[in-house]
Amino acid sequence: MSCRRGALIVLEGVDRAGKTTQCQTLVQALQQSGRPAEIMRFPDRTTKIGQLINSYLEKKSNLEDHTVHLLFSANRWEMVPLMKQKLEQGITLVVDRYAFSGVAFTSAKPGFSLEWCMKPDVGLPKPDLVMFLQLNPSMAANRGEFGIERYETSDFQRTVSQRFEELMQDSSINWKVIDAARTIEEVHKDIKLLSEDILSLAENQPVGELWK
Ligand code: TMP
Repeated sequence: MSCRRGALIVLEGVDRAGKTTQCQTLVQALQQSGRPAEIMRFPDRTTKIGQLINSYLEKKSNLEDHTVHLLFSANRWEMVPLMKQKLEQGITLVVDRYAFSGVAFTSAKPGFSLEWCMKPDVGLPKPDLVMFLQLNPSMAANRGEFGIERYETSDFQRTVSQRFEELMQDSSINWKVIDAARTIEEVHKDIKLLSEDILSLAENQPVGELWK
């Protein structure tokens, strides 16, 4: 008999909303309660594609806008076999950004529609839960290190926020909005409760296909 699958949980939000800290804290909490869980993040800067993206984000190289969008998507697709394997092994994946960031960031650039941006990611493993850490872009700008990498300007992040709002209208995705302006502990409490609820629901269902 095959074991129950793990859940695919995604954290999204504008830059500096606290996603990375919350992903790490959630994985620790799940592990401590005896549930196998691992963190993943996109972009995964360790692969060859990821290194191209990293150099672009650090402004060490320039890439054409469509090209970099497709690289971000390819960087997710290259991890799909590993993701499926882990989920089937019963490991819950807590993912720091996913296709939603891909769409929100590229479509914040002039001339890019949501529809075009979504296409390359159609069919990726569908998250069981997507938690959006909501934080006013001007509050995010006051948090540390804002402004070092490409995209880290308040104006751009404001447009990214609007694109996320549009993506959240899609009821085929299990979106939950989390107020990220609170303390790390308060935010974690909400995230942990929502995640625990989804684990038992996901284990009895096959992994879905995103935007299909
Ligand atoms: P990070 O700071 O979480 O490592 O994310 C790197 C930046 O890349 C961040 O500004 C969001 C952006 N991004 C995209 O533009 N497209 C994508 O598909 C992803 C995953 C991130």
